[in-house]
Amino acid sequence: MVTAHSKPLSHCRWLTAVDLFCGCGGVTAGLKQHNFRVVAAVDEDPNACNTYRVNHPTVHLYPYDIRTVNPQDIRDVDLHGEDLDLLVVCAPCQPFSSQNRSNKVDERSDLIFQATRFAKILKPAVIFFENVPGLATLKYRGLLDTLRADLAKLNYQLSEPLPIDAADYGVPQRRKRCILLAVLDAPVPPIPVPTTPQGQRVTVKQAIGHLLSLKSGEGDPDDPLHQASTHLPLVLERLHFIPKNGGSRYSLPPHLVLDCHRNHKGHGDVYGRMQWGDVAPTLTTGCTNVTRGRFAHPQDDRAITLREAALLQTFSPYYEFVGNRDQITAQIGNAVPVKLMSAFAPTLRSTIKQARQPVASSVNPASSVS
Ligand SMILES: C[S@@+](CC[C@H](N)C(=O)[O-])C[C@H]1O[C@@H](n2cnc3c(N)ncnc32)[C@H](O)[C@@H]1O
Repeated sequence: MVTAHSKPLSHCRWLTAVDLFCGCGGVTAGLKQHNFRVVAAVDEDPNACNTYRVNHPTVHLYPYDIRTVNPQDIRDVDLHGEDLDLLVVCAPCQPFSSQNRSNKVDERSDLIFQATRFAKILKPAVIFFENVPGLATLKYRGLLDTLRADLAKLNYQLSEPLPIDAADYGVPQRRKRCILLAVLDAPVPPIPVPTTPQGQRVTVKQAIGHLLSLKSGEGDPDDPLHQASTHLPLVLERLHFIPKNGGSRYSLPPHLVLDCHRNHKGHGDVYGRMQWGDVAPTLTTGCTNVTRGRFAHPQDDRAITLREAALLQTFSPYYEFVGNRDQITAQIGNAVPVKLMSAFAPTLRSTIKQARQPVASSVNPASSVS
C-alpha cells in the first residue's frame, strides 16, 4: 500500500506560491523566473502595494495588515481548495536588525508567527523565511524555538538559521541574511552552492557602470528613475573631497568634517563612495542618501539614483516603481534581491517535489493482498 500527500507533482507543472510580506515584489519577481505561479500576496504598505500591483497584475494582492487576512480565503479563492506548494515569509527585519539596540523585544517580531497561522490552512510543502542575521542571535533563540515547536505540531521540520550572503548568488551587493526552511514531512535540503563566490562577484561596475554619468540634479531624459538628487552646496563640497572609487569621509579636510563626526570613529560609511571593482554595501531604506551610509556613486559627486539602487538589488530595468523618491528608496532597500530568490528557486522546487513524493507505508504489501 502506498500513501501520498494530497497532490502528486508532475515534472513541469507550475508550482503555486503565496508571498507574505511581499513589499514591492522582489520575491515574486524571482519566483516567476522559475515557473512559480504566485497566487496571492499580502502587504500592508500602500506604496509597496501600488508597485506590486503594476508589476504583478495577475497575483491576488491582499493590501492589509496580515493579522486581518484569513488564510482560508486564500485557500478557497486563490488555490481553489488545493494545498499550496510554497509559502514565503519575509517578515519585517527591523525588530531583529543590529541597528535595533533596544533591549525590549519589538512587538513586530511576533509577525513571523503568521507563518504558522497560514501554514495550518494552506499546508504548503515548503516554507521559506528570509530575514536579517540578527534573527539567529541568542536574543531570539526562544522565538525560534517556539516557531519550531509550533511548526513541528503541523509536521514541519524547521532548519537551523542558515547564514548566507546575497553576493554569493549573483547579487552585486554584500547582503548578509538568514534563511530558514521548513519542509512538510521531509528533510530540509542544503542551501544552494554559491554561483558567485569570493573572486567571482558581480561588481558595481558590471551592474551600473553602463548608466549615464550624472551631476547633482541631472537626470537621464530616457529614464525617470535615473535622476540624481540635487545636493546642497556643502554636501557637494564634501563629496568633492571624498576620493573616487571607494573613498570615505576620513579624507575630509577638518573644516568639512561633520560636527557629529568630530572625535567619533563610528559611522565610517557615511558619505563613503562605492567601489567599481567590488560589490555594493547592503542597500537600506536610506540607500539614495549619502548621509545614511556608503551610498555615494563611485565617480560622480552624488548619491546613487533609484535606478542604480534597483539594479544593485537585481530588479530588471523594466521593473516599475510607484511612489515618491523616499517611498521608492524604502521599497528597494526592503526588497529581497530578485537574483537571490531566483537562485533558491530550483532548490525549493526539488524540495517540494520530494515532499510531495508518495511515501511507502510501513505495511508489508504482501500482507495487504486479499
Ligand atoms: C522585508 S520587507 C518585504 C520585502 C519583500 N518580500 C520583497 O521581496 O520585496 C517587509 C514587508 O513587511 C510589510 N509589513 C510589515 N508589517 C506588516 C503587517 N502587519 N502586515 C502586512 N505587511 C506588513 C512591510 O510593509 C514590508 O513591505
